Amino acid sequence: MCGIVGIVGKSARDIVLNGLSKLEYRGYDSAGIYLNDLKGHEYLTKKVGRISNLKAALTPDEQGLVGIGHTRWATHGKPTEANAHPHFDVTKRFYLVHNGVIENFKELRDNYLQNVNLVSDTDTEVIVQLVSLFAREEKLDTLTAFKKVLNLVRGSYAFLLVDNTQPDHIFIAKNKSPMMLGVGDGFNVIASDALSVLDQTQTFVDLQDGDVADITKDSYKIENLETGAVDRPAHKVNLDPDAASKGTYEFYMLKEIDEQPGVIRKLSQTYLDSEGHPNFDPKIVDAMSQADRIYIFAAGTSYHAGLVGKAMIEKMTNIPVEVDLASEAGYHFPMLSKNPFFIFLTQSGETADSRVVLKEVNRRNLPSLTITNVEGSTLSREATYTILLQAGPEIAVASTKAYTAQIAVEAILAKAIGEKLNVEFANEFDLREELALAAEGMQQLVDGKEKLQELAKKYLISSRNAFYIGRGIDYYVALEAALKLKEVSYIQTEGFAAGELKHGTISLIEDGTPVIAIINDPVTNELTRGNVQEVEARGASAIIIAAKEFARESDDIVLPEISYLMSVFLTAIPIQLLAYYASKEKGLDVDKPRNLAKSVTVE
Ligand code: G6P
Repeated sequence: MCGIVGIVGKSARDIVLNGLSKLEYRGYDSAGIYLNDLKGHEYLTKKVGRISNLKAALTPDEQGLVGIGHTRWATHGKPTEANAHPHFDVTKRFYLVHNGVIENFKELRDNYLQNVNLVSDTDTEVIVQLVSLFAREEKLDTLTAFKKVLNLVRGSYAFLLVDNTQPDHIFIAKNKSPMMLGVGDGFNVIASDALSVLDQTQTFVDLQDGDVADITKDSYKIENLETGAVDRPAHKVNLDPDAASKGTYEFYMLKEIDEQPGVIRKLSQTYLDSEGHPNFDPKIVDAMSQADRIYIFAAGTSYHAGLVGKAMIEKMTNIPVEVDLASEAGYHFPMLSKNPFFIFLTQSGETADSRVVLKEVNRRNLPSLTITNVEGSTLSREATYTILLQAGPEIAVASTKAYTAQIAVEAILAKAIGEKLNVEFANEFDLREELALAAEGMQQLVDGKEKLQELAKKYLISSRNAFYIGRGIDYYVALEAALKLKEVSYIQTEGFAAGELKHGTISLIEDGTPVIAIINDPVTNELTRGNVQEVEARGASAIIIAAKEFARESDDIVLPEISYLMSVFLTAIPIQLLAYYASKEKGLDVDKPRNLAKSVTVE
């Protein structure tokens, strides 16, 4: 949520703007940059909308050797120029960008800033005004004034601060919002995600919560608000800068859909040994097999991956699994069994809602596992164990490859626990073979994408609303399918348990309403066919995605053969492609749907 880039010692304008463009998927309702050329000239530019608007607003002479920039996803105040970052103080000496949320900003404003004229509605401006106030009234140097403010603040933040009386420094502070310091030769760079500055350096220092740093082009000094001076070693990151580029694709979403067969193969190779047995850290498997109930917490697409994981884990381990929305569980904690184990599913590893729950789990000293795509992310650091999704960076806001990767990891985990508990089904389930079939089937479906483009054009793009229906695992996939379609195409879509539609919602079916049925479940496929007839009789246009085993000639998409438990890997492709093409054919920005953000670090 929001993106930050700063640099000292090098052509700041280009590096900050390029970095922000790479972070734009995290927030894109407004953007801003502050540049200082160290010869007495400074430039502040802010624009509503995309980074391209900001770029267009800069004149060629607006350059700098120091710069900080920000792309925003509004939390406090509307997306306006005044509310865009960087924010500045009344004397125009200090400039500040911020990711996160200051919980007590009203209190701070009322206590200290009664006589200061604030020009924005943001929590961030309060911070920069306070630094300025303490520096002026108490004659504090900048770092001391900054630390004084940090000690008063409650909330999450990654801050970059520039003081134009010593513009060759950037002051940094981090708490609960990601921030990396990239070390270069004759320059230092700071970003909320290393990916955005990989073209500058591959050497990074991970800043920790409570860290405050003072960087110049040749030095960085880090101290921690609680523990004092600290030594944070630099390390090389193992990230491929090309992995975050679109290549020849028009949109990341399609690239990421296409990458899924490869991700599934990679997960199989990484987490299964040559005999097809899972090779996770035995401590994770031991801890989980002692649980009498597993609790999965997640948000959005990850929540839907959790629901499928429940079906897989229960089938392979006989351990009951409860899946909860993190945003609910944080404040209405579920009633626990005697030996609970907690899984946090989170693509970004930064979702604030999930973090609230993990904090409570830690407070109770209970064991937890974060399954995430981002190494070193907050939820990964704070949980007892971590398993990485290995999906490569996911840039499109609508999650695709992280969803199927999460489910693959859950399947392998389920098998690991099932084998440990000697559950017959798990012992006999040839997961390596099944994942190979899944990857092969996914590839076939990806290769046949034109068919989905036709279906999206014919049934979806001129429709106001749509429904996905299914039963069992197909119902869980229907929920994800509906989320995918609505988030990128703005077609109001609901995912429904096929049998439930007739209990009320069928009243919404009109002539031509698209109803997409997913039919893989061996037990209920005939029942779902019956539900399709019910909606067709009321005018709906049915689109049918069915397993080969139960397919009929008139079905629109017939999925290659695979066991029911694995069917989600195949169904995922057509539902993602329908969403992608509905959005693209409507001329929308597929990768950056309105109002959304990739990683939501506010509750
Ligand atoms: C945001 C994203 C969704 C994502 C959800 C959970 O809302 O737009 O695509 O599913 O957050 O994110 P996480 O990183 O925890 O999986």
